[in-house]
Amino acid sequence: MRKKIVAGNWKCNTTVQGGLELAKDVMAKVAESGDPEVQVVVCPPFVHITGVVSIVDGNQVKVGAQNCAAEPKGAFTGEVSAEMVKSTGADYVILGHSERREYYADNSAVLNKKLALALANGLTPIYCCGEPLAIREAGTQNEYVKKQFEETIFQLSEEDFRKLVIAYEPIWAIGTGKTASSAQAQEMHAFLRSAIAEKFGDEVAQATSILYGGSCNASNAKELFANPDVDGGLIGGASLDAVSFLAIVNGFRA
Ligand code: PGA
Repeated sequence: MRKKIVAGNWKCNTTVQGGLELAKDVMAKVAESGDPEVQVVVCPPFVHITGVVSIVDGNQVKVGAQNCAAEPKGAFTGEVSAEMVKSTGADYVILGHSERREYYADNSAVLNKKLALALANGLTPIYCCGEPLAIREAGTQNEYVKKQFEETIFQLSEEDFRKLVIAYEPIWAIGTGKTASSAQAQEMHAFLRSAIAEKFGDEVAQATSILYGGSCNASNAKELFANPDVDGGLIGGASLDAVSFLAIVNGFRA
C-alpha cells in the first residue's frame, strides 16, 4: 500500500530558535498522539535543518529541505547542494514548488537538474505541480499539469520515478484560504494517477503517494484525506502551529 504522508513546508518563517521550538512541539505531539500510519515530514529553512534533525526522532518525524541547488557544488554563492542537504540527515526535498517556479525561475530544465541531484544523493523529492487560476478557469488544468509532468518527472526512469512523492498544489489555493473542493482535489489526483499509469503502468501509479497542498488545514484535512486518491498533504501556513499540524496529521482517522 502506498504511504500516507503529511509534510509541513515552513517556507521562509521562524528564527532558528523558534523553529527548534516548533520542531520540539511537533515531535512531542506526534509521539503522544500521532497516527502511526502517517509519515510526518517537516521542511524547515536550510539553516534550521541540522538542529531539527537532532531534535526529532527520525523513526517518527522525517526532515526535508524546501529546495536544493541545480549544481552539485562549486562557485554558486548562496546555494545549498543536494549533497549538503543529505549530509544533515534530512531525507526529503521539496522541488518545483510554485513559489520557486514563479519567483526563482525554477523552470523544467532547472528542475530536471535538481531532481537528478536529489535522487543521486538519496533524497526523496516531493515534486510539486499545479495550475494557476486562469488555467483552472479555462478548464485546462489537466493538460497543464500533465505537461509539467512530461517536461520533468516523466523523463525519469521508472526506477527513479518510484522514489518520488508528488504534491498537487493548485496555485490559486496556496496561502489564499481558498481550498480546492474535496471533489476537485480527488478529480485531479485521479487524473494524475491515470497519467502515471499510462506512462509507467498501473502498479507504479498505485504505489505513488500524491499529496494535496493549498490551504489544507485542521478543519478541511479530514474531508480532503477521505478521498481515495489523496494520500496526505503538503501544508504551508497550518504547519507553523503544532496543534493544527497534528490535527492534519490525524486527518485520516475516522
Ligand atoms: P498553504 O501552502 O498551506 O499555506 O496554502 C501550501 C504550500 O505552499 O505548500
